[in-house]
Amino acid sequence: MPDPNVIVFDTTLRDGEQAPGFSMRIPEKVRMARQLDALGVDVIEAGFPIASEADAEAVRLVASEIRRPVIAALARCSPADIDVAGAALRSATRPRIHTFIATSDLHLERKLRISRDQCVEAAERATRQARRYTSDVQFSAEDATRSDLDFLCLVVEAVIRAGATTINLPDTVGYCTPDEITEFFHAITSRVPNADKAVFSTHCHDDLGLAVANSVAALKAGAQQVECTVNGIGERAGNAALEEIVMIAHVRAERAGFRTRVRTTEIFGASQLLSELTTEPVQANKAIVGRNAFAHEAGIHQDGVLKDRRTYEIMTPESVGVPRTTLVLGKHSGRHAVQERCAALGFTLSKHELDRVYRKMITLADRKKSVSDEELAAIAREIARTPASSDSSRPSSQGPRPAQEAMPAEVGYGHGV
Ligand code: KIV
Ligand code: ZN
Repeated sequence: MPDPNVIVFDTTLRDGEQAPGFSMRIPEKVRMARQLDALGVDVIEAGFPIASEADAEAVRLVASEIRRPVIAALARCSPADIDVAGAALRSATRPRIHTFIATSDLHLERKLRISRDQCVEAAERATRQARRYTSDVQFSAEDATRSDLDFLCLVVEAVIRAGATTINLPDTVGYCTPDEITEFFHAITSRVPNADKAVFSTHCHDDLGLAVANSVAALKAGAQQVECTVNGIGERAGNAALEEIVMIAHVRAERAGFRTRVRTTEIFGASQLLSELTTEPVQANKAIVGRNAFAHEAGIHQDGVLKDRRTYEIMTPESVGVPRTTLVLGKHSGRHAVQERCAALGFTLSKHELDRVYRKMITLADRKKSVSDEELAAIAREIARTPASSDSSRPSSQGPRPAQEAMPAEVGYGHGV
């Protein structure tokens, strides 16, 4: 039976680190590499050794310490790049040289200023040179998805003949749509005569917000390796987010058609560590790892989650390493959440007390974005001390919030609705 697991190639330390604001120093890269190892990724791209002495040193250190995954180093199709990458990987147990050259006419003519023939020649030469360092050679055709298909097929055939074992076809500028990527992978793998001799890989950028959808489409179309980064960091709008790809396979196994070996419970730790090392916050509503990914404030949602979390959660926070579901108390919260939180803080409230605490909490939430446990406890203590008759928050005969009164008490819309 074919292995349902795809190869997860993590490029957080290379493509991710290349993005403005995300650079890491050598010890930080080594720390992140340890976490990627704990996460269970199959390949760690540790850096681009020719880029700087620090990058080369980081690759050397990661290669000598991290023994389980394949350690990859990036190199252009130039002799110096390949030699420096080969040297940096010397102590790796499973070294991979990842060499690349652009194949689109736009990049060849305007950026590299070389002909198609020169491109094929450089690609073949670099692949052969890399094979002298390791039997694991990856070739990437930069801007593959905007390349002429016949020419791309010719390049891919040539580098496989020269010894490339993985062929990566990046959507470098995040231009493709999922249906196009599916057609693209089918076309290449059916037209290249020696395609069965290599593993095909996808590497998608997020310029149109389609990196993950495109990666999944490529995997469905036969790619066996997916390149991605923690928190989706990377050039411009970033790369496909590792945590999203992994959780699509986990939560929607029947639709995804692929699996990964990633330990999902390490995902949140990896995301947090990266954010700490780069001092770049994770977007609050980022899928899987954002601080709102498992947070509920709206009364209806809080009530649902308290009764059965599956009402509003398609995966458990624990499954991705998030300690617990967060019920945020704010102006949209309901009585059920206030009661639960008060109980957790040690307050047993009568129905009437709960009503008073709830009203005070909403008044406070009108001024603040959210109400903390300390603030809620202070309200609950005050209500416990204050006789109901002297409490100004007690409902008047008409009731201060008619819209709320019309709602079932345990749901509560706050007054945001
Ligand atoms: O986006 C890209 O084309 C790349 C290659 C160097 C693999 O990052
Ligand atoms: Zn890239």
